[in-house]
Amino acid sequence: MTWAHLIPSLNGNDVKPLHYKMVNLLSYVSLVIGALNFIGSWRLVLGCFPIPLFIPFIPPYALRPVVAIRNPIIAALDVPSAEQALKLAELIAPAVGAFKIGGELFTAAGPDIVRRVRATGAAVFLDLKFHDIPNTVAKSVASAIRLDVQMLTIHTSGGAEMMRAAEKSAAETARQLGLAMPLVLGVTVLTSSNATTLAEIGCEPNPEHQVARLARLAVAAGLRGLVCSPLELTALRQILPASVQLVTPGIRTGAEPADDQKRTLTPREAMAAGASWLVIGRPIYGAENPRAAAETILASLS
Ligand code: C5P
Repeated sequence: MTWAHLIPSLNGNDVKPLHYKMVNLLSYVSLVIGALNFIGSWRLVLGCFPIPLFIPFIPPYALRPVVAIRNPIIAALDVPSAEQALKLAELIAPAVGAFKIGGELFTAAGPDIVRRVRATGAAVFLDLKFHDIPNTVAKSVASAIRLDVQMLTIHTSGGAEMMRAAEKSAAETARQLGLAMPLVLGVTVLTSSNATTLAEIGCEPNPEHQVARLARLAVAAGLRGLVCSPLELTALRQILPASVQLVTPGIRTGAEPADDQKRTLTPREAMAAGASWLVIGRPIYGAENPRAAAETILASLS
């Protein structure tokens, strides 16, 4: 399977509310038909229609497009000002699928930078890693969805109730606004943590075990995506449903100077190992020609 198969629409970043509403309507009709099946009256109601029996059992969320992003490269706008971010975004937009706005840029430039990047037509991944009581995380997620972001992060270590609240808030807010369902991504163990860090805070000291435990908890709580290191991809693909979206930083092409990312894969290797999306920062924005760097990475995936 290539990345293209994971993407519901390859025709641009814009959401299409009417289309999505129709898809949602169809999914609810399917649910009603399913309910009729369960109460045993389907033979009377559906007997003369050639409707495949599996359709009623598809849950509504399975029919909703997740995010409409053109290619799997998410370029990290890890720069300190709105002006630098917009300049970089304009330069590389044709070669990337989305932009990641993290703590540095958001704290410096505020929610307005999300609106300005969205106004260019690009999809936005808001990486603020929410971790708080369920009510506060739900409200933070709602605020992010109102900014029209397509992906956002929460910490899975906040627990199942917090994750359920985040997913529910994302679904309800998107529905109210007529937006495509955004992807709430769970962060498991930060790649900066090791056995000592985990033991310090009283967790299972084996990072791989802790990642697997939090990943399972996240999926059971309803999350449809996770952020993970490239070296966790293979193990997570073995234990998670294939529909779970894995977003992976720590990507290096081999052409850039060594830096603080220790556990890396190339873009092609990461996709082959099961990544759905690649978060790439310095190999693009730190390159002499960021546009050419992004184009080379995209070409390496085909
Ligand atoms: O420059 P580089 O490609 O290393 O950037 C990776 C991006 O992914 C950065 O924005 C960084 O904050 C983020 N990230 C990461 N490792 C994680 C989670 C996020 O490098 N575990």
